[in-house]
Amino acid sequence: MARFAVLFVWVLTVISVVSVRYEPNWESLDTRPLPGWYDAAKVGIFIHWGVFSVPAVESEWFWWDWEGVKSPAVVNFMKDNYPPDFTYADFAKDFRAEFFNASEWAEIFQASGAQYIVLTSKHHEGYTNWPSRYSFNWNSQDVGPARDIVGELATAIRNETDMFFGLYHSLFEWFHPLYLQDKANKWQTQKFVQSKTLPELYEIVNRYKPDVIWSDGDWEAPDSYWNSTNFIAWLYNDSPVKDSVVTNDRWGQGVMCKHGGFLTCSDRYNPGKLQKKKWENAMTIDKQSWGYRRNTRLSEFLTTDELVATLVETVSCGGNILVNVGPTSDGKIIPVFEERLRELGQWLKVNSEAIYGSHPWTYQNDTVTPNVWYTKTKISSTTAVYAIVLDWPSSGVLRLGAPSMDGSGVVYLLGYQQQVKFTPQTSGGVAIQLPVFTEGRMPCKHAWVFRLLGVKN
Ligand SMILES: *[C@@H]1O[C@H](CO)[C@@H](O)[C@H](O)[C@H]1NC(C)=O
Ligand SMILES: *[C@@H]1O[C@H](CO)[C@@H](O)[C@H](O)[C@H]1NC(C)=O
Ligand SMILES: *[C@@H]1O[C@H](CO)[C@@H](O)[C@H](O)[C@H]1NC(C)=O
Ligand SMILES: *[C@@H]1O[C@H](CO)[C@@H](O)[C@H](O)[C@H]1NC(C)=O
Repeated sequence: MARFAVLFVWVLTVISVVSVRYEPNWESLDTRPLPGWYDAAKVGIFIHWGVFSVPAVESEWFWWDWEGVKSPAVVNFMKDNYPPDFTYADFAKDFRAEFFNASEWAEIFQASGAQYIVLTSKHHEGYTNWPSRYSFNWNSQDVGPARDIVGELATAIRNETDMFFGLYHSLFEWFHPLYLQDKANKWQTQKFVQSKTLPELYEIVNRYKPDVIWSDGDWEAPDSYWNSTNFIAWLYNDSPVKDSVVTNDRWGQGVMCKHGGFLTCSDRYNPGKLQKKKWENAMTIDKQSWGYRRNTRLSEFLTTDELVATLVETVSCGGNILVNVGPTSDGKIIPVFEERLRELGQWLKVNSEAIYGSHPWTYQNDTVTPNVWYTKTKISSTTAVYAIVLDWPSSGVLRLGAPSMDGSGVVYLLGYQQQVKFTPQTSGGVAIQLPVFTEGRMPCKHAWVFRLLGVKN
């Protein structure tokens, strides 16, 4: 009888899993549970690479700045350095990628501690980093590298790392004639969507089986123009990645920060408090640009301290962080980016248990000491609370107002082999006696994590 009951429940479960079909509307699509890998992963790498990496000044919006809004800085740059008849398309032949080695990138990304990557398959310029059937002579096989960049990176990531592989895709293209025609028709025609956007999206999903579709360039037109909900319903119901894929929220005017798999809300979104729905902080190490800039200065890069602090704030509030680097047109991740990523990875190696698979705690940051952020993890039947301290107190004592503990609790510093002493405070909270380290002997740099066991709240 018991066995029958188990079988019965099992059959029911299978039927219900099999029979869930999402309808092409947000009400239905938003009920899909987010595949578990994504929340556990916490850290991803964003890569902005395309023809804009050739001029490599201002940002990946170079073409728009030049011929869209005609920003004086870019107009003058072109006037001073290129012949008058030079077009944006002429940059593509210099997108050579001659040093691009997908294995090398995969190793750097893996060393950063990231669990997934998101590559621009196509930015707003329309150039596809794969040999698309729908982007004649404006793709990485026909002009420029003469290689399938998306394919090479997908293979290296899957074959040589345990990271998930995602693709960014821009719905719109600044200057595509069919897009401009649909726009002139006030979105009452869908020529561009029919012949370009949708075929491309189906093509990248069927060919590269991405675990993330990171959509962008949606804001000028409604989701009904983009046919977004129809595409996502196919993605969730019938696509080859229906069980693993996650999507963001940029699927049409007014959709961002409301609907989709996870919310990105704005670039560099970092709200500093707990959010109701899963979200992602997509941000850049070069504070001013997503694409590579030849004329950056060192002061324009986030320091590793700043990068770790942003990661910690983000994860404490329930977010994932997507850390962007812009490779050069010849395919290198310059040493400044590489160093930041490797240092992030060293920090994550020591403090992994406080980040991967963690959950927000009752409090996100401390109530008395600034720059202390919390996460929690269940270890078998007990819950560990992690206090992540961005500034090492020079007083030798760390005062925490949020956790309530008594003498039965235990405090560890991650990466340090012994327990550390603490005193429950009569006013609530605890005072942690910091170990004393000689020069260079701290378990890590940038931020320090205390594992608190026996927290009562
Ligand atoms: C690519 O990089 C890997 C790892 O560094 C190296 O083993 C391989 O030889 C490189 N391939 C080429 C073609 O340079
Ligand atoms: C996968 O990696 C192994 C060694 O790391 C290599 O021999 C093999 O050719 C790779 N496969 C593909 C499809 O790149
Ligand atoms: C939008 O999706 C619906 C349902 O799949 C389809 O009938 C329609 O042709 C699509 N429109 C475009 C422009 O592809
Ligand atoms: C905790 O974070 C919030 C939001 O960022 C901030 O307003 C508050 O001052 C922080 N608390 C302390 C003690 O720093």
